[in-house]
Amino acid sequence: MRRNLDTVFIMRRDINKYGFSTRAVHAGEEPNYAEGATGDVISPLHLTTTYAWHNPSKPVSEYDYVRSSNPTRGAYETKLAAIEYVKYGLAFASGMAAENAVLQALTSTGDHIIGFDDLYGGTRRLFDKVYTNLAISYIDLNNLALFEATVRPETKIVWIESPTNPLTKICDIAAVAEIAHKHGLIVVVDNTFLSPYFMKPAALGADIIVHSTTKYIGGHSDVLGGAVLTSDDELYEKIKAIQNNCGAVLSPFDSYLNMRGIKTLSVRMEQHQRNAFAIARFLESHPKVNKVLYPGLESHPQHELIKRQASGFGGMLSFELKGELEDAERVMNKLVLFVTAESLGGVESLIELPVKMTHVHVDKSVRDAIGITDTLMRVSVGIEDAKDLIADLEQALGELRTKS
Ligand SMILES: Cc1ncc(COP(=O)(O)O)c(C=O)c1O
Repeated sequence: MRRNLDTVFIMRRDINKYGFSTRAVHAGEEPNYAEGATGDVISPLHLTTTYAWHNPSKPVSEYDYVRSSNPTRGAYETKLAAIEYVKYGLAFASGMAAENAVLQALTSTGDHIIGFDDLYGGTRRLFDKVYTNLAISYIDLNNLALFEATVRPETKIVWIESPTNPLTKICDIAAVAEIAHKHGLIVVVDNTFLSPYFMKPAALGADIIVHSTTKYIGGHSDVLGGAVLTSDDELYEKIKAIQNNCGAVLSPFDSYLNMRGIKTLSVRMEQHQRNAFAIARFLESHPKVNKVLYPGLESHPQHELIKRQASGFGGMLSFELKGELEDAERVMNKLVLFVTAESLGGVESLIELPVKMTHVHVDKSVRDAIGITDTLMRVSVGIEDAKDLIADLEQALGELRTKS
């Protein structure tokens, strides 16, 4: 029996009244019950690059060419906006393409940007090596007096990450946004690490949220992608124009895969976090471990701050071994379940050594100054059984004990 269209579209009209997991499953995916429609329960994958016209004055639909818009990407962008609790979503071919679109759309020569001093290295590279026409200041944004003193008449954007990588520094987003808005700055928050499941930066004052969807949103280490989210009509129009004119769009197939990923984001994030807690506590009590950086631990210096602005702590942690670089390498070489790899946010547990991998290009003096030591390892905790992950770490750390 067919339901009538009014019943069907109630969900679409009211998606904003639903909770996160309901949005993640249903936003952008309402079945089409119209006469003659197939009634797909999930949003179908549209692979066509171009769309027919009845005649040169009359296109068949609102679509004409895939770079400008595509039903699958559109559905995915609707889902992204719904889970970030904003009006608009824009999907890009990578996190860096998303960040580039923001900068291209909103800055011009001579503008100044203020960035958190522990931003993702690729973001710093984009600022420093590509946007050489801009002035950039990297500062500790938790020093609010310093932040306000750094603002210049030509400052356009403040760029935040929280927690940062690999040091898990937290930024007080609401406090920074309040000062930023007083001075007419645009607040950009990279929400890759916590994902919208654990933090909604728009509610804290972010004007724009960016993601490397390659991480938790895709969630399975198999889709490169990025996103820009906003509720501001003008910002959206400017960034959408760059998306269409420059063309770094996400493909329909990758949009389809990420929609699939988002449906399980809440259950994945809960399991990532449960496992991260178990591992953090195990490591904290291990005699060979010097310190553990996980914002969920009460020992984390900004534990209270993250509790105020997020509903969880995520699945990323770092820990520092007692010993030398070779000890860290020995432990990593002994791990069986943890894969040594640079990315994060997938269902499988990954481990990396920042001084030799993600942060090898950061000057040693800078690394030392901010605390990226030779034995600091970063873990992207997966959704496996916690006891298996802990047993793996235990045997690898045990190797160290017998050698020392
Ligand atoms: C916090 C953060 N932002 C942005 C990016 C860039 O994203 P992508 O690799 O998808 O271009 C990354 C990649 O690691 C990241 O960790």
